[in-house]
Amino acid sequence: MDYTPLRISTVKPLKILTFDLYIFFKDQFLCYVKKGEQLTEDKYTKLKVQKVAKFFITESDEVNYQNFLDSLLSETMTNPKITIDDKVLMVEGVASSAVERMQQNPGNESAYHMTETAAKSLRQVIKNNPDALKKIFGKKVEKNEELIKHSLNVCALSVKLAEILRCTDQELDDLGTAALIHDIAIPQMNKNDILLFNKPRKLLTNDDKRVYYLHTKDAKILLQEKPYVNKTILELVANHEEVLSGQGPNKKKKLTKLEEILSMVNNYDKRTITNKTSPIQTLKDMMIDEMGNYSLELLNEFKKVLHSEGLLD
Ligand SMILES: [Fe+2]
Ligand SMILES: [Fe+2]
Repeated sequence: MDYTPLRISTVKPLKILTFDLYIFFKDQFLCYVKKGEQLTEDKYTKLKVQKVAKFFITESDEVNYQNFLDSLLSETMTNPKITIDDKVLMVEGVASSAVERMQQNPGNESAYHMTETAAKSLRQVIKNNPDALKKIFGKKVEKNEELIKHSLNVCALSVKLAEILRCTDQELDDLGTAALIHDIAIPQMNKNDILLFNKPRKLLTNDDKRVYYLHTKDAKILLQEKPYVNKTILELVANHEEVLSGQGPNKKKKLTKLEEILSMVNNYDKRTITNKTSPIQTLKDMMIDEMGNYSLELLNEFKKVLHSEGLLD
């Protein structure tokens, strides 16, 4: 049987489950709560204290879980009694689970739909809660979670910027989904090449670049010919390392507005990881290094958003 890993923050106690909830315990999968039963407070608390707080579902329950999650999400997001922290925690859990599933199983349609749901929810939580973006960016994660966190950051910030630039709902949904999955091919590279993710761009040799940038082509291969992935998203993923100077892997010099936003926000967040510079220093460096790679107008808009969202403090 195939088990899909999910994060604890995507379930809540005192709910009747519409799927069998498994845990991995002493080298095997055990059914912890059966379909139709309630996840008690006690059982939920025990789940939460695990080192990596995860549970599992089987493939046959994926649709049931998706429906359960959709209603839990809309309940959580619209409930004024639930704190912003808890809302953010839930959305982060959904988005992280979705990205992780896409990394492990890029051809899984249910994982893809979960990613779309996650992108929409991230946008919603940021739109309705002025502190949400700052909370998302402020979280520290373990080294092995860095890539997932990067995907969430890029999604949240690029959608925020695109919203200010008056992109349509459809554009925001496409951008958000593409941002969550833009780097899904990185974990598939061999161990030594994965280390290039943490190497500052300026230090990449031509060989490094050739190898590292393959992740954009690979991601496109993983997603193309899937009828549920639209062309805008496919192109966004394939072009997320492109710059206006034409020095990206696909040598494109013309980028759509969404492509330029995704590439620029990706560049910014990646710098904060690889260069370990403060947000304000990262922005300063970027304004110098990336002149000609992004339009000055967009860089300035970005600067404004980082300021107004309190991300430079
Ligand atoms: Fe990338
Ligand atoms: Fe990236």
